[in-house]
Amino acid sequence: MMRSGLVGLLMAVFAVAVGSLCHWLLYRWCMRRVPLLARHRRWLAAAMVTVIVLTPGGRWLVNAGLDDGWMWLEGAGQMWGMSLLVSVPAIYAWEAIVARRSPPRAPDPDPAPPEAPAPPEAPAAPPEAPAAPSRREALVGGVFVGASFAPLVWGSARTRFDVEIVEVPVVLRGLPRVLDGFSIVQVSDIHIGAYLGDRELRRGEDLIAPLKPDLVAMTGDLVHLRPSYLPLGLDWVRRLGERARFGAISILGNHEYYTGRPDVIDAFDRAGLPLLINASRTIARGDGGGLVISGVDDVWGQSKGFGPDLRPTLEGVPPHAPKILLCHQPQFHPYAAANGFGLQLSGHTHGGQIAPYGPVVARAMFGAYKGRYRIGDSTLYVNRGFGTSGPPSRVAVRPEITRIVLVAG
Ligand SMILES: [Fe+2]
Repeated sequence: MMRSGLVGLLMAVFAVAVGSLCHWLLYRWCMRRVPLLARHRRWLAAAMVTVIVLTPGGRWLVNAGLDDGWMWLEGAGQMWGMSLLVSVPAIYAWEAIVARRSPPRAPDPDPAPPEAPAPPEAPAAPPEAPAAPSRREALVGGVFVGASFAPLVWGSARTRFDVEIVEVPVVLRGLPRVLDGFSIVQVSDIHIGAYLGDRELRRGEDLIAPLKPDLVAMTGDLVHLRPSYLPLGLDWVRRLGERARFGAISILGNHEYYTGRPDVIDAFDRAGLPLLINASRTIARGDGGGLVISGVDDVWGQSKGFGPDLRPTLEGVPPHAPKILLCHQPQFHPYAAANGFGLQLSGHTHGGQIAPYGPVVARAMFGAYKGRYRIGDSTLYVNRGFGTSGPPSRVAVRPEITRIVLVAG
């Protein structure tokens, strides 16, 4: 807990530093280019400082015992901060391009700048000298800011609920012919909490019901942070399991560590719901020998003396049995492939969640970050997740429920 707390603190400090830098650059630009804001510089500075302080403040208020709804302070601040990551570089890049292409300009007739207009014979200003503000520049800057923030607002209001059902056929070596067409509905990264609750879970359930799965696989991060949401999450998993011939099987994600690993394990035990932690079970045993479903602990658990361990996972499993591994993080796939798993189902990356930066970062961190990958004849499928982490928004990365259809190979 100490290490994850330290990582969280460092990430918060980094986010505040980057957010402050973006706000400062935007403030500088407003002073040069937007006379209206330049006249009210103190109010602008106060507003920006308030946003910077209130963004982490939402979490502090909730931690202090206030209602979870206060998390929206943090969520809105994060969305605004992320939009500045796009709009501020765009504003400065556009300004540089315009300065390079334009000849020295005559002063704008409207509005009249406070300084006296330069006489016609005055020498041209050096390129780095601040140009006189103009309505056009203020407008273009406003368009950049608005165009960067609007997709995040849209992504919060619409895209993050616009769940895509993705059907993925997977050839699995050794699968008995009688199990050809066996379907697994994978749900991942639900992140039940302040931004996602019972209403969204019931919508997800309504989407899953017509899929008539043989098995439901929940590949981690059921609850975002607070153990108080565990009953809601477990009740959802139970209901999904009742819709599948072989029930629902779950594994731990990194957020189960934040929620409290012992609490989560205990809650699953008491609910009588299967949670595979470095363990396997054979399902459809009578159907040509059946199919092995294995689940490993989360990779981040290694720092706490837990983590994935394939030795106990595969104990007693016939070496040539068709095997599917549930593992929250995709980077475990080379080990799964080397140990005979024909398929690994993962999540964790959220597909990057917020374009354009998110997918770039997810690809750099994990390589495999959404969709299907292969090593030899072993397939990895990375689900984009159902909920959100960080800003409660998705931009150009829809949430996903996956229907895996097994094909006898
Ligand atoms: Fe997640």
